[in-house]
Order: sequence, then C-alpha cells, then structure tokens
Amino acid sequence: MLAATDSQPAKRFYDVIVIGSGIAGLTAAVGAARKWKVALISKSVLRDTTTFLAQGGIAAALSDQDSPQLHFEDTIRAGAGLCKEEAVRILVNEGPARVRELTEICPKFDRAGGDLVLGAEGAHSIPRIAHAGGDATGSVVASALEQAMESGSRVQVLENEFVVDLLTNGGHCIGAVSLNLKTGAFTLNFATATILATGGSGQVYSLTTNPRVATGDGMAMAYRAGATIGDMEFVQFHPTGLYSDQSPIFLITEALRGEGAYLLNNLGERFMMGVHPQAELGPRDVVVKEMLRQMNDSGQEYVYLDATHLDCTMLRERFPTVYERLQEKGYDLCHDRIPVAPVCHYMMGGVVTDVWGRSTLPGLYASGEVACTGVHGANRLASNSLLEGLVFSDRIVRDLDKYITSMEEEVRRLHIDLPGPAREGNRSEDVAASLRRLQKTMTADVATVRNEDGLMKALEELRAIHNSLKSPGADPDEYELYNLLTVAVHIVKAALLRTESRGAHLREDFPESDDEHWKHHVNFRLKTEAAEEE
Ligand code: SIN
Repeated sequence: MLAATDSQPAKRFYDVIVIGSGIAGLTAAVGAARKWKVALISKSVLRDTTTFLAQGGIAAALSDQDSPQLHFEDTIRAGAGLCKEEAVRILVNEGPARVRELTEICPKFDRAGGDLVLGAEGAHSIPRIAHAGGDATGSVVASALEQAMESGSRVQVLENEFVVDLLTNGGHCIGAVSLNLKTGAFTLNFATATILATGGSGQVYSLTTNPRVATGDGMAMAYRAGATIGDMEFVQFHPTGLYSDQSPIFLITEALRGEGAYLLNNLGERFMMGVHPQAELGPRDVVVKEMLRQMNDSGQEYVYLDATHLDCTMLRERFPTVYERLQEKGYDLCHDRIPVAPVCHYMMGGVVTDVWGRSTLPGLYASGEVACTGVHGANRLASNSLLEGLVFSDRIVRDLDKYITSMEEEVRRLHIDLPGPAREGNRSEDVAASLRRLQKTMTADVATVRNEDGLMKALEELRAIHNSLKSPGADPDEYELYNLLTVAVHIVKAALLRTESRGAHLREDFPESDDEHWKHHVNFRLKTEAAEEE
C-alpha cells in the first residue's frame, strides 16, 4: 500500500518495535529496552490513547480478603462462558505482582494509612480496583510509565508516525512501514520482533468513549499480514456514557456506582433492583440490556445516574475528573441526576494471541485492547483491561529473549521487495463521507441489539462503501478508513455467524445463549501465501 514517491523509503533497524503508546505499549517498550534496541511508534502524540482517559483503575487481588481465585471466578462469570481459562489464570495470578511493581514507579496510587485504597466496580465480588488521582488512573499511570521510558532513554520514540502496514517475509513479521504525518515520508522499520499495542476500534461507531485515533489499525494490519483475528462480534458498550450526540462521549466511571450511585428510570425507580443480585453493579452486558429496555419503554434516549444521596465532599475528592467535566457540561454531580446512555467503549476481540502474547504470525506480538488473549470472553470484567496490558506486555518482554536470539541473524540478512505504488487516492470529502456512512451503518444495525436482516443490510452497505473507494494513496484518513472497514466487516460477519445471544453480543432473533453450538470462538484469517506455509 505504499504511495508512489520519487525516492525509496528510508530504512531503520531495531530489535523490537512497539506500535502504540497506551499502558500495553509503554510497558512493553520499557521492559524490552532493558536488553534490546527498541523504537516506540505512535500515530499521534504519546498521550493520545485510551489508557490516558481511563478513570476506574486496575483490578487485582491485592487485599487480604481477596484472592486470585476469587478474581478468576468473577472474570470467568462476567465473560459469559467464553474466557480462555489458562489466560485468565495467568492474568489473576501475575496481576498483583505487576500492579505492585507499577506502584513502585508510580507513587501516586491512592492510599489510606499506607495501604492502597481499593474501589468496587461492576461484577466484582469484592472491592479490588487500585486507582490513582481518584478517577484519573490512566493519565497518572501513563505519565509515570512515560517518565520511566524517558529516564532510561534507550527507547527511540517516534510520534506522529502512522504505521500503515506490517512487513512480512517467509511467514514472519519483520517490522512495519510507517508514514510520517508531518513530512509525508514513508519509512521501513525493520525489527526482529514487532509488538502491536495499537488499542481498539471504537471509531467504527458514531459515538464512542475512545479517542479519535482508535481506528482498529493493529487488528486490520495484522489481518492483512495473515495473522488470525477473533471474537470480533464482542464489542462492549459501557452503561454510563454522558448522554450526548458528539463523540468522544465522556465516560462516567463505574466506580461511581461502586461508591453507591444509582441508575434511575424516568419514573425515578432503581430499575436494576430485582434484575441482578448486584443491582447497579451487575456485569456490563446485563446492565446495558436492562437500560435499553427501560429506554425503549419510556421512549427516552437515556436513563439517569444519581449520586445526589452521596456525600458531596467524598464525590469531589474521589471523582475530581468526573465532577469537573460534568460541571463544564452544566451538571452538578452532587445535586443533579445525570442523563446517561450505553456507549461503545471496548473491543473484546482482536489479534488472537497465546499466553505469551504471540500472534499466529511469528515475530508479531499483540498486547492490550488490540489483542484477543481470551481473558475477556464475551464480556470484559471492569478494570481488567489495564491489568491485561501490564501482565501480557511483561510476558511478551520475557518471551522476546527466546525469539530474538533465534531469529536475529535471519532478519538482518533479509532482502525486501517493496510493494508496488498505490493507485490514485480518494478525495478527502469522499473519505469523510464514507466514514460517516460506515459509522451510521454500524450504529444503526450492529450496535447493542442485532438481527439477521440488519446485519445483512450492514454487510451490503460496508461492501458498497468499499467498492466505491480507490486504493489508499498517502492520506492517513484513507488508511484509517480502510482499517475501520476491515474491522467493521469482521464484526458483522462474526455477529451474523453467532446465532445466539451471549455477553455483549445480543441477537433479538436468537435471544438465548446456545452452549451446545456456540461455546466457542469465531476466528478469521486471510489466506496469504505466508499463512498457508504455517
Ligand atoms: C470505568 O471506569 O468505568 C471504566 C473502566 C473499564 O472500562 O474497565
């Protein structure tokens, strides 16, 4: 997909490249740089990530009352029958040590009398969410990891550089092609190991909590390179996005319900009572489903989050980010009921990996939201996502030693045939219009409630969008649109195949779970020469 230019692209050589700068990318880069020559490539600036926006915190069995076994059981229960148990075991067993290490480099975790303060969130049977800055965990943690990366200074940081494709040779991933967003120049970044940490794909929907950069790049390029992607039908909608028609939607952390906030319908009733034993703190898929029912009954596009019965000083201290952002939007958390609606928040599916973060394409690892390690199953347990990035990036770093040592010489000797020049690109207004069309389609027919007619219509529409486009030129918006199309098509295909309802995947034409036929995963792999050699 390289665009035609007069000169050949520049080349850089590394042991490891990390693509993405959220918790998974930073953790991988800091760890790998202890031994290897590492570059971290970010499409935007380092802080423009979903991690940076994370409010709730990091779940781990850190208290005497808790145990990895309890955390395991909660994760498995929330995952609605599709978690990979081996991966969950690793997550909950290694999680506490990884979080403690993080607290060493990030001293700003909230504490009382020296002990970490642990919050409650949905579907956890015990308070186990470590947080920092009250509700600013993501930005505090990311800043600390960034500092750790910079103080070591062995990582070459490349910002505003969009990785548009992976480089493969002989069935191995050997790096990635990047496009400098300031100069328009392409570079071939050769690496023995490549770590995808590009985050999610929330931009397939019109409204999402994800930042603008979450365009599914890692999933799409891994798929193009022949890696397996899976669980794409499982897109998590968070119950409490602040009601608005403008993306990104401001998320109001589940931790607020953990501190006792209610969900109320338009009659002022706590509608989750009697629906789930944990009421407002039921699993996200259960809460979202009931919210949709309430919204349907009332004809209103939202329900209310109500914290007015809670202590105002506590609210302001524990939730300073939420308090201030709501104030900017004209709401007083202490005195107003806040209109909230479910909003696209997290992709459970992604690049399928084993428990060492290895994708099915040798040399390519994936960690964080871009990955599908299997720890989330059909519905992620709250605050397990930052933990997943920490735990599996650490495992990737440990695996690199074996992989790089065995591959180094081979990758250095490689001769690469560059892809041919791209055809003429699209006009920018076509790209913007196609993106809106894609988002509208996904929002109308592939969001929280799905059925065969809607999914078939969506698939046709996505194909029509694809057919109306030329191959991308050197325009980043075009690459993103193609990536979003790849992700969207696979969400729809998997959702069509899965003729049951499970976790975040709700089919109104198949409302029940069907363990007999569907207690398994839907995977996709492009049949490339490299893949067929495996
Ligand atoms: C939240 O704070 O509610 C979000 C945490 C998460 O998505 O796990």
